[in-house]
Amino acid sequence: MRLVLVGPPGAGKGTQAQFIAEHSGVPKISTGDIFRANVSEGTPLGVQAKTFMDRGDLVPDDVTIEMVRNRLGEADAVRGFLLDGFPRTVPQAETLDDILREVAETKLDVVLELVVDDDEVIRRLSGRRTCRTCNHIWHVDFDPPAVEGVCDIDGGELYQREDDTSETVANRLEVYAESTAPLVAFYAERGLLVGIDATGPVDDITQRAIDALRPFEKGQVDKSPTDRGPTDAGPADKGASEPGRTAS
Ligand code: AP5
Ligand code: MG
Repeated sequence: MRLVLVGPPGAGKGTQAQFIAEHSGVPKISTGDIFRANVSEGTPLGVQAKTFMDRGDLVPDDVTIEMVRNRLGEADAVRGFLLDGFPRTVPQAETLDDILREVAETKLDVVLELVVDDDEVIRRLSGRRTCRTCNHIWHVDFDPPAVEGVCDIDGGELYQREDDTSETVANRLEVYAESTAPLVAFYAERGLLVGIDATGPVDDITQRAIDALRPFEKGQVDKSPTDRGPTDAGPADKGASEPGRTAS
């Protein structure tokens, strides 16, 4: 499956991406994670990206597109992928179509929109903590690790992202509304968009996502423009024992 996740900062793209990618057996490709890894390693790409990320602005399209083109050319992405955080502008979306045609003579199967409001985003981002080693995403109130500041999964140190300050979050929300929200209409017109309500327990949202994606996995979907309304496909049936699956 070739899948794009779209939604505002804090919608839960990273949180859901790991579960959905695992379920679908495809690699998760997060442009934010790739940029952050480059920033922490001090690579030229990281140095270039950092100024934009610290302000909550988008890294210029040419830099981002080249990075994604390289990543999609890697062997594990040939049979499918989940893109988290890309595309984020209409030009990026148009270039993604070109890349898929060039690299694999293929196209996107589906775009999943995570629908949440700004107040929820602010609550989520103010308490987010991320593992320095495995990148697992926690929340101090909604999904806390057993020991404060320590990842349950690998014992890694948890850190707060530099772009999660209230000022930068406000700018990221503006940038989303201006540059990324138009993608929702762009993909709806192409019959590729499904939207789900991304509020409530993490497990429930994962199940809604899996249910919404199922027809696309089987290639049985009618590709006429879809209704954009959130889809609540019923209660979760997954256990909550797995680390990181207990948010409420
Ligand atoms: P990126 O890392 O992609 O940031 P973002 O889009 O702003 O999204 P976030 O990662 O902040 O939120 P998320 O939706 O992943 O939420 P999460 O799962 O963490 O990009 C960072 C920067 O990189 C950009 O600003 C830009 O500069 C640059 N960049 C990246 N891609 C680019 C591109 N294509 N073009 C140009 N520039 C680009 O969840 C948030 C919190 O909520 C967590 O604490 C989590 O535990 C909690 N949570 C999740 N689900 C729930 C729930 N159901 N209930 C309660 N809490 C929950
Ligand atoms: Mg993320």
